[in-house]
Amino acid sequence: MLAILVAVIVVLLFGFIWNKTRSRLTHIPGPNGIPIAGNGLEITSTFKLVTKLHEWMEKYGDIFKINLFGEEIVVVGGILIGEMLVTKGSDFAGRPKIPAWEKLEGNEVHLVLRDYDPKLRFIRKLVHKGLRQYGEGMDKIEVITVTEIAKCLDKIETLNGADFDPFTYIHHAISQVMNTMVTGEAVPDGHPMLNKAIEWDRLDGEISQDPTFLMPAMEFFFTLIRVGKLRYYTDVMDFFIEHWRSYEGTYDKENMRGLYDVIYKAYLESETDEEGVKISYNNVKYLMFELYGAGIITTHKTIYAFFHMMVTHPELQKRIQAQIDDVIGSERTPTTADKHKLPLLEATIHETLRYISHAPFALPHETKRETSLGGFTLPNKTQVWPLISANHHNPEYFKDPMSFNPDRFLENDGSLSPANSRKMLTPFGAGTRNCVGEVFARTRLFLFTASLLQRFTLLQPTEGKLNVLDPKSEDHLKKLPCICPNYKIRAIPR
Ligand code: HEM
Repeated sequence: MLAILVAVIVVLLFGFIWNKTRSRLTHIPGPNGIPIAGNGLEITSTFKLVTKLHEWMEKYGDIFKINLFGEEIVVVGGILIGEMLVTKGSDFAGRPKIPAWEKLEGNEVHLVLRDYDPKLRFIRKLVHKGLRQYGEGMDKIEVITVTEIAKCLDKIETLNGADFDPFTYIHHAISQVMNTMVTGEAVPDGHPMLNKAIEWDRLDGEISQDPTFLMPAMEFFFTLIRVGKLRYYTDVMDFFIEHWRSYEGTYDKENMRGLYDVIYKAYLESETDEEGVKISYNNVKYLMFELYGAGIITTHKTIYAFFHMMVTHPELQKRIQAQIDDVIGSERTPTTADKHKLPLLEATIHETLRYISHAPFALPHETKRETSLGGFTLPNKTQVWPLISANHHNPEYFKDPMSFNPDRFLENDGSLSPANSRKMLTPFGAGTRNCVGEVFARTRLFLFTASLLQRFTLLQPTEGKLNVLDPKSEDHLKKLPCICPNYKIRAIPR
């Protein structure tokens, strides 16, 4: 008994000294942790992680550090986020290694979690080029998006106002826009790509409920517990990749069809940029998967929350519909040219992104050299998280932040407030590693929501009642990106 007690004391003492002597950030404030685990044991779920980060920010201020089983992380809020992402963007452009994720993609990550190296810069350039050609170019995105949205709304119409969960309807429409952007064509109705995308999204959500994937020291346990799920994840990923690879046989560089062709061409022709890097075939495959995934899950969750918000804020829904009726009427399909004439809808999209803050700490960053933030020196290779949800829910920047109020983004005359008044609103991140799909996503969000409210009024279900979505609740913060729990509503044609 005594021997066990002594052993425990020795281990704890060793852990305490180990944590202290290894720490490179002793000069930065933060919650005390326990030996070895640091603050890791306080963070047993994604909900706890986000909630604790908010609590600690209130206690320690806009910069503090935590320790997750030996991994030290600096968490940043307030105006320091702008300094980190924009002013000193290249200092903070790296990504830390997330071993559990690297394994999934064959021991190399390709874009989203890739460190900031010459290949990453080249890949970002290629993706921007492809998205401009096949996603952001006004004509193309309109044709793709409007067709898929119309199909989705037609299906909703066949429900004749019955209670339904819009989850799958939105998912299929968003996936089809991505399918068209990647290969130049949507898949036929009922194609397995559509349901696989839902399965993958659910799986991704389940895996992200456990934040140990962010703790390299816990990788062994993380993967051990989920061997089956991770294997299935890889199977689904391979399924997508095989689908896109089937287009290689008909590749014709004189007739480029979508993003896959743009990236595949860069590989086939060994394109390089001024830094002289080339991409590998593995890059082509997994990069497409990353874009496909990032493009679906974030936009789907925003639109799913938007539906919910319209039902729980019927007066707001009426006001948006009145503006749509004035500007577009009921005959013509909404176009991107209408965007600036519908400031209330634009403000509501901003407010949805602010309110749900479904990427609470964006993605992890890492310093590329010794630098400083808020008066603290940060060594090279320090992991840093921008806690954007803390800004979005901070009353200093957004009055009464827990009320859903798009009018906060409007001027007295009803026009949209100028962009520079929304500096603290950064749902897509900012600067060197900002979201490459922002323009594409914003266009889809606008076209989807405008078309939806032009055709339907969304109402409470006949059975039960939706409560206002609470972005701080455990239900909402369970997974990353966050999503409200499934719900049912009615859609009545106007
Ligand atoms: C509502 C929709 C979306 C939201 C809220 C969103 C949000 C974000 C955020 C917060 C980041 C991390 C920024 C950082 O590291 O600081 C990010 C990165 C990224 N997003 Fe999005 N995103 C959305 C849609 C899209 C779409 C449609 C695509 C693709 C077509 C996309 C592709 C990416 C990629 C590839 C990155 C990683 C960029 C890099 O690491 O250099 N996202 N996004």
